[in-house]
Amino acid sequence: MSVYSIVVFISGSGSNLQALIEAQQSGVFQAEISLVVSDRADAYGLQRALNSHIPSAYVPLPRSVDRLPAVRASIRADWEQRLLTVTNAFAPDVIVLSGFMRVLSSTFLSGCTADIINQHPALLPDDSSDTFTTSTGAVIPTLRGAHVVQDALAQQLPITGCTVHRVTPIVDAGPVLARAEVPIVPEDTETTLHERIKIEERRLIVEVIKQLTQNSHI
Ligand code: GAR
Repeated sequence: MSVYSIVVFISGSGSNLQALIEAQQSGVFQAEISLVVSDRADAYGLQRALNSHIPSAYVPLPRSVDRLPAVRASIRADWEQRLLTVTNAFAPDVIVLSGFMRVLSSTFLSGCTADIINQHPALLPDDSSDTFTTSTGAVIPTLRGAHVVQDALAQQLPITGCTVHRVTPIVDAGPVLARAEVPIVPEDTETTLHERIKIEERRLIVEVIKQLTQNSHI
């Protein structure tokens, strides 16, 4: 049987990638991180991949400001095609969007057979609801988008958290695989809060991958 193949998409620090690398190295799951892909040349996660001798690819989305919408769409479609070609060459069983700050279109999603999962630094409900009910019964707004740690502080929420979910064409809305709550304390800044969320995220993503690899062996 071929080894379960994980491809990780990043745009930044890659501390979740590091958690996956260490989990693989210590045998927490039977799988191989076969490729790391970044849309940013300066993503520190690329260095982490290099340090662990994991193949990596920098696939930049060319800048398309000031161009006609049709030209922008075509530049983006070409970029997704390159992403697909590189990714599919590593026959992934799962693609983990781990701090990847781009939205992938349904063309990309239908262009690969792998599970695609996303890490989101806020609590997402099981449905498309605009609210989320915490374990203590508090009802908080559902935070979607790229600035949700900031949004949790700006909205003075008592609690936030993180979610791992399957990716669908609707952004930050696919079926939830795991989530964890993180209380917000009065002295929190975006940095301190995000760091505490990431502690939970690193634990969750390893658990989810372990679960997916076990299910794949049934
Ligand atoms: C994580 O908090 C992840 O949830 C978030 O980026 C961070 C990556 O951290 N992703 C998003 O905001 C996606 N919209 P890392 O680079 O240290 O792993």
